[in-house]
Amino acid sequence: MNGRVIAIDGPAGAGKSTVARAVAERLGWSFLDTGAMYRAVTVIALEAGIDLSSDELLEQVVSDLSISMTDRVVINGRDVTLEIRSPDVNSAVSAVAACSAIRRALVEQQRIFASEQALGTVVEGRDITTVVFPDAEVRIFLTASLEERAKRRGDESAASVAARDSADTSRVDSPLSVGDGVTILDTTNMPLDQVVDEVVACLRK
Ligand code: DC
Repeated sequence: MNGRVIAIDGPAGAGKSTVARAVAERLGWSFLDTGAMYRAVTVIALEAGIDLSSDELLEQVVSDLSISMTDRVVINGRDVTLEIRSPDVNSAVSAVAACSAIRRALVEQQRIFASEQALGTVVEGRDITTVVFPDAEVRIFLTASLEERAKRRGDESAASVAARDSADTSRVDSPLSVGDGVTILDTTNMPLDQVVDEVVACLRK
């Protein structure tokens, strides 16, 4: 049985991490950034020089992997918190996240993480409301205009954000999509506090 979960999906730069972290803080719950997990695996795959289009080779990377998600991202004992945000990882991570074996392994770890938290977990990612926690108490799809999302990503261009959107939406396994019964929240012109209020209000409904 999982602990309580607020599940937040949405495209790159929609504000998922910022919102999920702020909601977790408001409620005293844990926070899980699942994109950071795919990014950490990408660091390892890039370092190993693996052909990212080969599911077989990528599968070997996850066969013997340990990831710890606290305020630091640690994979196989190595702190990759900063490395996971590099441009190389930005452009390679969608290919890694398209690999079913990797998704299976990380989804299992995400469910274990949530089941171990005392109060609850705010989880954000690209398949969280549809695949990982389809029965979560609250399921939100956060979005914003492409222009606004690129701005929020700082030094990442709109073209790079759009390329990731397209890869995440069109992949075969667990594509980014809006599931039935999921609340859509467009945050283009919304201050963070208001977004947090709206998410927390869903919990009380
Ligand atoms: O949110 P982000 O930009 O850190 O996500 C990095 C990549 O991982 C992005 O290509 C989408 C993918 N991802 C995913 O497929 N499933 C998740 N639950 C989280 C992220």
